[in-house]
Amino acid sequence: TMAELIRSETPVAEWPADWFRIEDNIRRRDVLLNYDLAPGAALAAGLARGATEFLDEVKRSGLRGRGGAGFLTGRKWQSCRIAPGAEHYVVCNADEGEPGTFKDRVLLTSYADMVFEGMTLAGFAIGAKQGLLYLRGEYRYLLDPLEAALTRRRSAGLLGTNIQGKDFDFDIDIRLGAGAYICGEESALIESLEGKPGKPRIRPPFPVTHGYLNQPTIVNNVETLAAACLIAKHGGTWFAAIGSASSAGTKLLSVSGDVARPGIYEYPFGISITEVLADAGALNTLAVQISGAAGNCLADNEFGRRIAYEDVPTAGSFMVFNHGRDMFDVVSNFVHFFAHESCGFCTPCRVGTAVNRRLIDKIAAGHGSPYDIDEMFKMHRLMQGTSHCGLGNSATTALFDILYKFKPTFERRLQSLDFEPRFDLDYALS
Ligand code: NAI
Ligand code: SF4
Repeated sequence: TMAELIRSETPVAEWPADWFRIEDNIRRRDVLLNYDLAPGAALAAGLARGATEFLDEVKRSGLRGRGGAGFLTGRKWQSCRIAPGAEHYVVCNADEGEPGTFKDRVLLTSYADMVFEGMTLAGFAIGAKQGLLYLRGEYRYLLDPLEAALTRRRSAGLLGTNIQGKDFDFDIDIRLGAGAYICGEESALIESLEGKPGKPRIRPPFPVTHGYLNQPTIVNNVETLAAACLIAKHGGTWFAAIGSASSAGTKLLSVSGDVARPGIYEYPFGISITEVLADAGALNTLAVQISGAAGNCLADNEFGRRIAYEDVPTAGSFMVFNHGRDMFDVVSNFVHFFAHESCGFCTPCRVGTAVNRRLIDKIAAGHGSPYDIDEMFKMHRLMQGTSHCGLGNSATTALFDILYKFKPTFERRLQSLDFEPRFDLDYALS
């Protein structure tokens, strides 16, 4: 299977050729973006428009960040373009670490040219000469093919000096992470790029003004940069016409778990959870965990909701659990994940994630009581209010979502069955 191949670290060049094909890797429906642009085609279109015109197209497109937060890409690029600094930088965040998310891996495997071309276009728009692609340590096996793609692009005049005969110089370096989830947080990623431990910075100031080497920097997700190519080629109005009111374009979803057809799916924004489940061949579904360990868990009465920033936002993870699963085990996994991945910089998250792991293990072992739930709730409120970065702020989102929606699975494990939580879960989830 593909999972076995990845674990065996077999060089990508030795994988079966048909696994690289988009038709096999990305399942598409309805209005779908064509990622098969010839190298240089989007760049030529973007350069022909001119930097400010192209930036206007990106603004017009309504493109929002595909890493999860959905910040308007045009606004980010504009802020960076006008920020004073000796150099400007483009950073591609390829530290795809969210559990259940693997769509950037497919783009980097099959559409590296689009990603690099998106970075180049971004450099053109903000006035940068240097791009850096921060590659997740676990994706090390992609390093050689990605470097080869860069070499090809340099020989084709798509990177280097006077790109496509224009007064525009740009090149890209690839830097490898070392397996820390926190390095997907943009300011920790920048610290790591600078050779320092990946500890998040205080934001603001945002990277657009104080980023890599304290210079104006845009940090964008792999998928966002690939989408920028499509905007360069077809224009912002074309892109804005796809998707929903506040979420333009399409979204790649990494669908995994209890489905007959796991994989990457591309949908226009606005698709419902039910439709995705049907396409993936999910039966008897109990819950869908959206956006990975840091995201929300949807129960079956919410499957009519839609994937869109105005309803269910997601970085792309879509994990399906059927009625054969125990959501306590699922949440226990997430709690362990965060205790392992907390960078340890700030006390609420370092201690809170460790305390939660101890409490969840205690409940799993049959020694739990409602007071342990109460204790976890206190940690939840403390961490949400005082953690230094998004990891600590979101480390208990799934825990309390699942506790709230699947209470019986917790109750079964508590010694005292007169489960009377002394807290207001609705308030916690608001
Ligand atoms: P954020 O909302 O703080 O920022 C989003 C982006 O907008 C950043 O690039 C930030 O620099 C920029 N930004 C925000 N305000 C700005 C302003 N006033 N001026 C200029 N730029 C501004 O979100 P954050 O903390 O960067 O990311 C959280 C998201 O990451 C969550 O949605 C989470 O789901 C997702 N995530 C994704 C993972 C993955 O593997 N793709 C892993 C973990 C989390
Ligand atoms: Fe590190 Fe967690 Fe604090 Fe973020 S919230 S800085 S991951 S300890």
